[in-house]
Amino acid sequence: PKPKPGKLRRTLRWAWRLTYLSAAGLVGYTCYIVYQDRHPDPQFEPDPTKKTLVILGTGWGSVALLKKLDTENYNVVVVSPRNYFLFTPLLPSCTTGTIEHRSIMEPVRTILRHKKAAVKFYEAEASSIDPDRKIIKVVDNSEIQGATCETEIPYDMLVIGVGAENATFGIPGVREHSCFLKEIGDAQQIRKKIMDCVETAAFKGQTSEEIERLMHMVVVGGGPTGVEFAGELQDFFEEDIKKLVPEISPRFKVTLIEALPNVLPSFSKQLIDYTENTFREEKIDIKTKTMVKKVTETTVEAEISRPDGGKEHVVIPYGLLVWATGNAVRPIIKDLMTKIPAQKDSRRGLAVNEYLVVQGTRDIWAIGDCAVAGYAPTAQVASQEGNFLGRLFNNMAKTEDHESRIQELSSRMNLQSGNSAEAAHEIERLEKQLRRIKDIKPFRYSHQGSLAYIGSEKAVADVSWWNGNLATGGSMTYLFWRSAYLSMCFSTRNRVLVLLDWLKSKAFGRDVSRE
Ligand code: FAD
Ligand code: NAI
Repeated sequence: PKPKPGKLRRTLRWAWRLTYLSAAGLVGYTCYIVYQDRHPDPQFEPDPTKKTLVILGTGWGSVALLKKLDTENYNVVVVSPRNYFLFTPLLPSCTTGTIEHRSIMEPVRTILRHKKAAVKFYEAEASSIDPDRKIIKVVDNSEIQGATCETEIPYDMLVIGVGAENATFGIPGVREHSCFLKEIGDAQQIRKKIMDCVETAAFKGQTSEEIERLMHMVVVGGGPTGVEFAGELQDFFEEDIKKLVPEISPRFKVTLIEALPNVLPSFSKQLIDYTENTFREEKIDIKTKTMVKKVTETTVEAEISRPDGGKEHVVIPYGLLVWATGNAVRPIIKDLMTKIPAQKDSRRGLAVNEYLVVQGTRDIWAIGDCAVAGYAPTAQVASQEGNFLGRLFNNMAKTEDHESRIQELSSRMNLQSGNSAEAAHEIERLEKQLRRIKDIKPFRYSHQGSLAYIGSEKAVADVSWWNGNLATGGSMTYLFWRSAYLSMCFSTRNRVLVLLDWLKSKAFGRDVSRE
């Protein structure tokens, strides 16, 4: 039955009260989290007799491990040239100012301050690992250096989570002339260069040919990094540059070059087609079956494989070149691999067993992009591996604890017979627990799905759904992409900042000033 006006008013009043209460609850909860973040419990110093666990890196793998680890069980030392964690999935958005770079960085000092027992952090790069002497050499390569900038750190247990570097395949000119997209500094450099190209193209008397070149943005590599960046770049031009610098905007062009027959090779066929069609609508030029062979200061030289099997050599002038052709092994990993005979056949990183132990070593584990465990080099894999090691180490510490307690009780039982029944009962209980703890299953990756932003407020998603797979693309997927990444941000602070950045760039446009 239709509610009477009085009843409707009452219902609306209640609905309003409920909304008000939930909003107040949400604000209250956020304030509580923020307060807790700002006022962590006092930390205690770890026991110096415990084992020294050295963790290299502050990326997805290492930070997931740190989050899970009970630091009171070890003397934990973290070494990384980066004193922050970087939320890489939103890095392409920093290149155009949709998101400010600090919004996706979380200081490692804040992360470590929230652990129960203190953790030592050294901002330095591990330069070599000696698995025989159980020592790592570290170097402070930062701008400011003290009297000591090189030292050695001994370890009992070592976790290597140093990630990977950019692959260039030795192609001439790539390192000298292109921008990469892996670190915060890369995103900042790209943001600066985009605006430099625009302002230089708009310079009085600029030749038509030069405007054409400067406004041509070339992306090499049609994996998720290249695709997401190309989408962000096109958005930037459509939504901001076109309005602010209209005289040069018709000359703007994005070209995506990919050696394989299609972009996003790891996504399903339906989403590959959807992405390529969306790019065509967005006027992003996709050149597939095109392998870049050489890069100069102003041109890219590539070889196109024609359908008849022939090859065509092309020279493409560019203003900005972004190189996104995947991962290569870091020098420290290559160096370690030469020291371990069991690693001689490994090419893409440190081969690990199902417990992530580096094959051919003792007490060394590897996680993330520097490890070869049979999975793709993604944040999802790295964080699940870190999480697994955290649980493994917590269990190992508990095992040692239980074993020494059992030993102590057994020797007490031998000496004094009075409390033996009680001690035997306690031993039985501990042994039961020990069996459960020791029954640690090997690492198994659980794939949650892949997401990628493709521009024009559209995204593609290949997600696990019940026992199958759901492939979807479009504006609703874009909303899903945004909410998924917002919820995955490291901290409440990151979440609030990212949300504010999205609102800010929507309301006021992206900031085009060149720092
Ligand atoms: P990283 O996160 O790269 O961390 C490596 C750490 O080691 C860093 O702190 C580094 O400073 C440190 N380090 C380097 N050298 C040394 C040394 N010699 N000594 C000590 N420390 C060292 N994956 C997804 O699953 N979903 C996504 O949406 C996604 N988006 C991405 C977007 C971009 C632009 C990029 C570049 C990658 C993206 N990835 C994504 C991939 C993901 O970021 C990586 O797989 C992940 O970062 C790997 O984690 P990691 O811990 O192995 O290494
Ligand atoms: P990638 O390895 O996935 O793709 C690189 C592409 O470059 C390949 O398709 C390759 O064929 C192409 N290429 C290589 N050399 C070339 C040349 N000379 N000329 C033209 N094309 C060339 O690398 P990407 O995109 O950097 O990703 C690295 C890892 O990070 C992947 O595992 C990826 O899944 C993950 N990632 C995931 C994201 C997501 O899920 N949204 C976003 C970004 C990265």
